[in-house]
Amino acid sequence: MPDQSFLDIRHLDAGYGRSQVLFDVNIGIPWRGGVAVLGRNGAGKTTLMKTIVGELASSKGELFFDGRDITRRRTEERVRSGIGYVPQEHSVFARLSVRDNLAVGSLSNPDAARAVDRVLAIFPKLSQRLDQPAGTLSGGERKMLAVGRALLGNPKLLLLDEPTEGVWIGVIEEITERLIELAKEIAVVIVEQHLDLALRVADYAYVLDRGRVALQGAAGEVRSDPELLRYLAP
Ligand SMILES: Nc1ncnc2c1ncn2[C@@H]1O[C@H](COP(=O)(O)OP(=O)(O)O)[C@@H](O)[C@H]1O
Ligand SMILES: [Mg+2]
Repeated sequence: MPDQSFLDIRHLDAGYGRSQVLFDVNIGIPWRGGVAVLGRNGAGKTTLMKTIVGELASSKGELFFDGRDITRRRTEERVRSGIGYVPQEHSVFARLSVRDNLAVGSLSNPDAARAVDRVLAIFPKLSQRLDQPAGTLSGGERKMLAVGRALLGNPKLLLLDEPTEGVWIGVIEEITERLIELAKEIAVVIVEQHLDLALRVADYAYVLDRGRVALQGAAGEVRSDPELLRYLAP
């Protein structure tokens, strides 16, 4: 675990009703840089993201963010304190235009116009789609809009749940480069199926196996760990 943690997850258990998904998860996220969360389908990655943002209550353990105990804080408070979240699914309003999606995303931002301009500078493709319903965007454009919306809240920590899922290969590189840039400024947690991509964005990686941290380390070390493929194999 990195020495000084911005987000500090301690002994976290979580799940749905009686079905426990996460078991004694300990994770540290530094103030800046990328951290990858890897693991096969069903390992608990999305459950972990939901628990960090507070959509799902933990049944045990503590979450500290920016030095404060947020274990019992509501999602809105967590978001307000600087946690941005791009969920795996339903991350944009399909019927609203790109412009309106951005407007809704920047409601709480006192400098909304500038924040929107910044997002359009990061993802110029969106500028050509402003009046189009988000539901008509390509997979890649939709992910860009989802990341852009999350950035409008000026997060200090950005949680990305599979930001390249369903994205055409030609656009994946563009998104990856933007995420590498973002991780130079803020803390980025990336859940990814594309191992190479995840480990380009991340300096550090955690591998979940059936809801437990099975492996962790610097991105390069995790990539060359002989156990890694076993944990990722379906
Ligand atoms: N809403 C839910 N209710 C009950 N079980 C769920 C729910 N969402 C996910 N699960 C279960 O929790 C486990 C972990 O799922 P998830 O966190 O989505 O994994 P991942 O994102 O790593 O693919 C799976 O066994 C899945 O079936
Ligand atoms: Mg998932």
